[in-house]
Amino acid sequence: MGLKLNITATSLLLLLASAAEVACDTIFYVTKYGERADGNTDISQALLKAWGDACSSPVASTVMTPDGTYALGQITIGGPCKAPINFIVQGTVKAPMDTRRFKAEAGWIAFQQIDQFTLSGGGVFDGQGKTVWGTKCPSSAYCNQLPILSSCIYMLMFNFITNSMVKDITSRDSKQFHINLLGCKNLTFYNVVISAPEESLNTDGIHIGRSSGINITDSTIETGDDCVSIGDGSEQINMQRVTCGPGHGISVGSLGKYPNEEPVVGISVKNRTLTNTQNGVRVKTWPASHQGTAYEMHFEDIVMNNVGNPIIIDQEHCPHNQCNLKIPSRIKLSSVSFRNIRGTTSTQVAVKLVCSQGVPCEDVELGDINLKYKGNEGHAMSQCKTIKPNLLGTQLPRTRA
Ligand SMILES: *[C@@H]1O[C@H](CO)[C@@H](O)[C@H](O)[C@H]1NC(C)=O
Ligand SMILES: *[C@@H]1O[C@H](CO)[C@@H](O)[C@H](O)[C@H]1NC(C)=O
Ligand SMILES: *[C@@H]1O[C@H](CO)[C@@H](O)[C@H](O)[C@H]1NC(C)=O
Repeated sequence: MGLKLNITATSLLLLLASAAEVACDTIFYVTKYGERADGNTDISQALLKAWGDACSSPVASTVMTPDGTYALGQITIGGPCKAPINFIVQGTVKAPMDTRRFKAEAGWIAFQQIDQFTLSGGGVFDGQGKTVWGTKCPSSAYCNQLPILSSCIYMLMFNFITNSMVKDITSRDSKQFHINLLGCKNLTFYNVVISAPEESLNTDGIHIGRSSGINITDSTIETGDDCVSIGDGSEQINMQRVTCGPGHGISVGSLGKYPNEEPVVGISVKNRTLTNTQNGVRVKTWPASHQGTAYEMHFEDIVMNNVGNPIIIDQEHCPHNQCNLKIPSRIKLSSVSFRNIRGTTSTQVAVKLVCSQGVPCEDVELGDINLKYKGNEGHAMSQCKTIKPNLLGTQLPRTRA
């Protein structure tokens, strides 16, 4: 009897010991897989091996890239994994200068099909974009002419990532788009810094497409293009305490260019500051467009510092005059509000609501708009076409046009 008990106790101890061992082994240091932090050696292979081991771990695990400077080529970091997984980046990870051999329309780093994933660590993803800024995207014909770009380059792609978190990281000097989301659900960005200089065209901050439950909070976006752009099929996108600028502001759209676009539903932008941006908050759709809808879009408690076009709905969005303005947009916009928007505007028309004559906007509200024009030709004005917004509180005078 006593002996039997002893055996059980011993095996229990052994079991505990091996559990402890598993717990210790759940941090996979990329440096133990032959990675060198010399800033030149490509760490792709080491990272893939560390990721593979972590991803097949039956308990929660961490891939760790300690402080240092690393070079990393094009890579897909993919799931599904067996348990929750963290990727901690403490150092600086640098993209190649020459991306001619990158797969077309892919990202530099693609995170794909991972559930319960956390990317964190205070590290920096450096796109080394300086040499290609100002070049057009996504017209691949144009891209092909470039010496070192074969196609549109997204820096960090999140494809089909669910129940996950990205926090305390910096994305710097992307070649083109910084962050692109596709098919993600319940993904939060917290304390993320995105930075590229004002003159770096096409370096959009975060583009969201066909994703739902996306929160962006307490983050800073400085870039040469849209800070955040929201494409079709985006639902329940919340942004709070995000600063933007320089850049082109935050935009929903352009919608309606392609057939079968999915609705945009439930956009909330709150407690946000925009500084020296070309635009503030805007919703844009193409004229002569395909059918679609966008509704429940609310912009609230926003401070504009020297912002051009602070509030815009533009259903005649037609860059480079490539469209037929005689045919109205077929994107139906409804339930849109702009409340408590204050600060300064660098264009005299501070509020511009141009709705479709085919499917006029419904239920658009303007509440407490306190914007001062910085120029000396008079007051800030508002302009409306095919729309009678519900007006609450302070408003700007209308233009005659
Ligand atoms: C969303 O993801 C977080 C992890 O970031 C998780 O804790 C939470 O339960 C998820 N929410 C839902 C509704 O699944
Ligand atoms: C995202 O933001 C919304 C609105 O602020 C909030 O209700 C929700 O709980 C947030 N989700 C996560 C996963 O933090
Ligand atoms: C955001 O919220 C904080 C704290 O509630 C407040 O102090 C700040 O003025 C708000 N900013 C904007 C832009 O509304």
